[in-house]
Amino acid sequence: MSEQLTYEQLKQAAAEFGTPLYVYHAERIKAQYNRLVNAFDGAPVRFFYAAKALTNINVLKYVKETGCGIDCSSVNEAKLAVKAGFPADRILYTSNNIAFDEIREAKAIGAHINIDSLSNLRKFGEAFGHSYPVGVRLRPNIMAGGNLKISTGHAASKFGVPVEAVDELLQVMKETNLHIRTLHIHTGSEIKDVEVFARGLEVLFEVAKRFPELEVLDLGGGFKVPYKPGEEGTDMETLGKKVKEEFGSFEKTTGKKLQVWFEPGKFLVSECGYFITQVNVLKESGSISFAGVNSGLNHLIRPMFYGSYHHIENISNPEGAVKNYNVVGNICETDNFAEDRPLPAVREGDLLVFRNAGAYCYEMSSNYNSRYRPAEVLVKDGKLQLIRKRETLDDLLRNQVEL
Ligand code: LLP
Repeated sequence: MSEQLTYEQLKQAAAEFGTPLYVYHAERIKAQYNRLVNAFDGAPVRFFYAAKALTNINVLKYVKETGCGIDCSSVNEAKLAVKAGFPADRILYTSNNIAFDEIREAKAIGAHINIDSLSNLRKFGEAFGHSYPVGVRLRPNIMAGGNLKISTGHAASKFGVPVEAVDELLQVMKETNLHIRTLHIHTGSEIKDVEVFARGLEVLFEVAKRFPELEVLDLGGGFKVPYKPGEEGTDMETLGKKVKEEFGSFEKTTGKKLQVWFEPGKFLVSECGYFITQVNVLKESGSISFAGVNSGLNHLIRPMFYGSYHHIENISNPEGAVKNYNVVGNICETDNFAEDRPLPAVREGDLLVFRNAGAYCYEMSSNYNSRYRPAEVLVKDGKLQLIRKRETLDDLLRNQVEL
């Protein structure tokens, strides 16, 4: 089974379901999961898909079938996971700055829980004592990730219990009889350098000895995937090997056998996604050629929000003479998807496809300018199926209270 959808399949999707349209290739998700499993073969490892990247229920069900677990950043994601059929033991809940009541709800579901503040840890211990094992999210003071908004482990980050506060953490553990089973870190997203994960492990191993009931080190997500042609992602084979070695030698020196957990989002679903748009308007202005598509930051905010690169293909005219374009949206702000981007000659009506549109794309979309969110399609076994309808005016009015 090919790892990519063909232009024909994408054109067929656009013809059948209209544009703008998100299309996801199921088998690509499975291929990515298998890559992880193979790279970590022989390691005491578990993977939990970071559902925040893409939560369509059909994608969650598909991920469940692969055998992967699921990591939830809100109790609503945990409820979706239950609805998708994940048993509690395969659900992990890693939120931050959350009301304690939400943690109670996650516990009622039976999920594994990572808690990211001393305040909520104390509340958890006071409520449940030793009866329910938990994880603690630590802030390891490591700067990592593709940009500052997605860097989460550095010394000024809001996330986790600072590693320098471990004495206080142990005090809370003692006072409330907490059962700490997991130490967790997530230092950022789009981390290419394997050494960053190794440094995180070092920090965790250092404090691990102080937690007598520890069973799991959870290294979070953050594996980098290629966005640009020719770009390299995280070298999973090297990481897998390194992790196996490190856990092996930790076991040898301490006699402690720990598991390692990961929470990949982008790695599993970024490359399965294609966002199909259609060119509404061409405009020449001085040296700039604008290609205005029927979408905008309301549907795909990553280029505007993070300066992210998404590769664009003109699937209607792939053999056209290459020229540079500013690909822009139709929102009442400067919503540039790409500047000075070489593309085969673009004509009004052409279909432009954005790659890497699986992770954090539909999921971060909005109704800004009162535009509908796109439809979503899943391609599985070569079959195209609608998995979310395009919105209508009723959706825009659904929760409004008209006086
Ligand atoms: N675990 C935790 C605790 C996380 O906060 C995240 C992502 C992940 C796992 C998964 O990270 P991944 O493997 O996907 O890099 N919206 C941004 C990415 C934000 C990531 C937030 N946390 C973007 O579009 O680049």
